[in-house]
Amino acid sequence: MAILKIARMGHEVLTARAAPVAAVDTPEMQRLLADMAETLEDAGGVGLAAPQVHVSLRLFIYYVPKSRAGAGEPVPLTAVFNPEIEPLSDEIVEDWEACLSIPGLRAAVPRHTHIRLTAQNATGAAFTRDLAGFEARIVQHEYDHLNGTLYPSRLTDFTRFGFNEEIYRNPTLHPEATT
Ligand code: NI
Repeated sequence: MAILKIARMGHEVLTARAAPVAAVDTPEMQRLLADMAETLEDAGGVGLAAPQVHVSLRLFIYYVPKSRAGAGEPVPLTAVFNPEIEPLSDEIVEDWEACLSIPGLRAAVPRHTHIRLTAQNATGAAFTRDLAGFEARIVQHEYDHLNGTLYPSRLTDFTRFGFNEEIYRNPTLHPEATT
């Protein structure tokens, strides 16, 4: 396994539309997954998309730690290949997000509260899952990466976008999320 270099905002791989993964269950894909898992653990995030490690393919990994599960259950590290998402309601909420490709910054990003995820797992098997809350937020953030979209382009309120140190000492802001 290896810790991979994470692309930062401004690199063209982060604004490209990633290509579908033709064959999921290959040694190359399994190695990439293992390397992404190690990279995510090293970097300390909760999600990582392949374009963030300079691989322009449609896959990401994520998990929901117990500390962020709210009323729900924690979600173990999950591999998502060739995903499609659809909103299950019109409800949208803002909450704090960060991105390993935009270090030092965070923002309150509007996202759908409920989505349906259809994708393939690490063995290539198709699955569909209805997601809510923080898990739905992570998946929308990672899915955006596959289409070359970074969270700043989702913002509607730039008063809640800034450097971590400034936001943490701003009494009107109460960030808690790291994506
Ligand atoms: Ni990100």
